[in-house]
Amino acid sequence: MSRLDGKIVVAVDGPAGVGKSTLAIGLAREFHLTYVETGALYRAIGWVARERGISPDDEAALAAIAATLPIEFSLEGELNRVILDGRDVTTLLRSPEMGPLASQVSAKPKVRSALLDRQREFAKLGGTVAEGRDIGTVVFPDAHVKFFLTADVEERAHRRYLQLQDAGEDVSMAQLIEEIGTRDRQDSGRAVAPLKAAADAIIVDTTHLSVEGVLDVLREHVRRAL
Ligand code: DC
Repeated sequence: MSRLDGKIVVAVDGPAGVGKSTLAIGLAREFHLTYVETGALYRAIGWVARERGISPDDEAALAAIAATLPIEFSLEGELNRVILDGRDVTTLLRSPEMGPLASQVSAKPKVRSALLDRQREFAKLGGTVAEGRDIGTVVFPDAHVKFFLTADVEERAHRRYLQLQDAGEDVSMAQLIEEIGTRDRQDSGRAVAPLKAAADAIIVDTTHLSVEGVLDVLREHVRRAL
């Protein structure tokens, strides 16, 4: 508790496409917590590297970007705006090729260590809900409530399929299953801070639950912790 200065920290971890953002934003709004989308940090590093023609294998150059990344978040309704050096990059970071690139960048130990303190800085302002892959295990091992969300890969692919269809994009289920499966293996298989549940995490299988259903479960745990 001391390291967190008495302010509540909620960790939301889980694999790609499980609904972490929607749920973490739901908790942030309901309990007036600062929302920290750590995946956006890795996405932003990948994006800046690509803009500058830096290879996603150049660990030293990526770590330098991570250490100085001028990034800010602004939660507006259900949308987390990401501002990079004064420019709104929210949509750019969400484009389909940025997920795999972020995953590649995030496997570099020096990038992860450069981001560690920066992620903790976000939580200094007040109560926080942070989402990612290693929040409960590495970034905030003392978090008061730790959730680890799971869902079958087919279900996660189906959720993404519906989102993309809504956005007028045409992509096959088979392709999505393949992409999500690859990212799962990459994020879970890396040597540093792999995707895994903390020993004291509350594991919630969302496969057969609606967003509201999951939110009900999470809300109850946070309420008890407050
Ligand atoms: O949550 P997301 O899809 O925006 O994350 C993109 C990638 O960033 C993800 O595949 C792995 C990496 N990531 C990470 O390694 N650790 C985090 N805490 C958050 C994201």
